[in-house]
Amino acid sequence: MEGAPTMSPKIALITGANSGIGFTIAQRLLNHSTDGFRVVLCCRNRKKASDARDTLLKEFPSGLIDIIIVDVGSVDSVFRSCKEIKKKYDRIDLLFCNAGIFPCAYLDWWTVARQAITDPKGLLIESTPLIQPVGATTSEGLGETFACNVFGHYIMIRQLEDVLASSDQSRIIWTSSRTAKRDDYNPSDYQCFRGPSPYESSKYVTDVIAIALNSRLNKRNIHSFTTHPGVVATNIVYDHLGWAMDKTMKAVLYTGRSLGIKEATITGWNGSYANYVVATEPIENLNKFCKYGSYAKPWGSIYCLEEAIICYDEKEANDLLRKLDDLLNEFRKKNKYGV
Ligand SMILES: NC(=O)c1ccc[n+]([C@@H]2O[C@H](COP(=O)([O-])OP(=O)(O)OC[C@H]3O[C@@H](n4cnc5c(N)ncnc54)[C@H](OP(=O)(O)O)[C@@H]3O)[C@@H](O)[C@H]2O)c1
Repeated sequence: MEGAPTMSPKIALITGANSGIGFTIAQRLLNHSTDGFRVVLCCRNRKKASDARDTLLKEFPSGLIDIIIVDVGSVDSVFRSCKEIKKKYDRIDLLFCNAGIFPCAYLDWWTVARQAITDPKGLLIESTPLIQPVGATTSEGLGETFACNVFGHYIMIRQLEDVLASSDQSRIIWTSSRTAKRDDYNPSDYQCFRGPSPYESSKYVTDVIAIALNSRLNKRNIHSFTTHPGVVATNIVYDHLGWAMDKTMKAVLYTGRSLGIKEATITGWNGSYANYVVATEPIENLNKFCKYGSYAKPWGSIYCLEEAIICYDEKEANDLLRKLDDLLNEFRKKNKYGV
């Protein structure tokens, strides 16, 4: 029964858990007093993962924290890690599809200057001046941003479906973005090889899949949701800005938030609030056709809003799922790990 104490801790897998929003999802779960959680940090870099675990253990000395090494941008690595996960856990209660990249070719200063005058709020909460490289592919031939932000997670869900179904009620929680837009998605180029915005396209695909999976998985008591963190000063964008710009942007974000820009959640802890709400609210209070967003009041207190995804189209969603299944089957045929 939802909310009742469980005999064993709930098992929560979090991709991209060594920093930013993924790290603070782990923190929030370990801090949660009603249910115990075993958090599994799914990271691509072992050193970063064990540093994250050490930091969490300082705060939660009796925390149950495991590590799984996975590069979600590599199909091979995802297959391998799923095999390991299935050996280690006979049940998964929460799967946070959170790891993500925002590749950036350069910062367009002309757009920064123009937007600073015409749309200063947009400059803060959109990523327009960060020009994305177009046509980048992984060594396995997939669109780079699509592979990491979408497909690796899709494979995890498909490979782990039975262990997700072994929970009384499991949840898949995707970290999407408020900048995900239908306009940036091209059904005939769903991996966004041709641009112009692989990141926004990948996040739109995320939203569509997150909703569409419900019609397939709810009968097995697996429930899928999409969230966004607002605008958070994490490595994903700030790595592209350099130290001085990073500090400047943070100062501007705090100023913007004090003036009422509610999207400026700024910290990972704030940004992960929507993920936490979706992980812990009784399922009957949640709407699978909505995206759950983290927002901040001018003085910094945080809240979660449920937002309708108005352009969701069931036929388009099913087409997309079919394409992902076809792609997955191609890889399954040639995979070396017997999964
Ligand atoms: N920050 C924002 O304002 C914002 C806004 C909207 C949506 N989001 C979404 O929030 C999610 C988390 O990002 P963040 O802001 O917390 O940024 P972050 O601090 O850079 O965290 C991203 C995490 O994903 C991991 N990662 C990236 N590529 C990976 C791969 N191929 N395999 C495994 N792990 C990988 C990173 O690992 P490494 O440390 O090894 O690189 C890192 O742990 C992303 O999906 C992002 O799109 C963020």
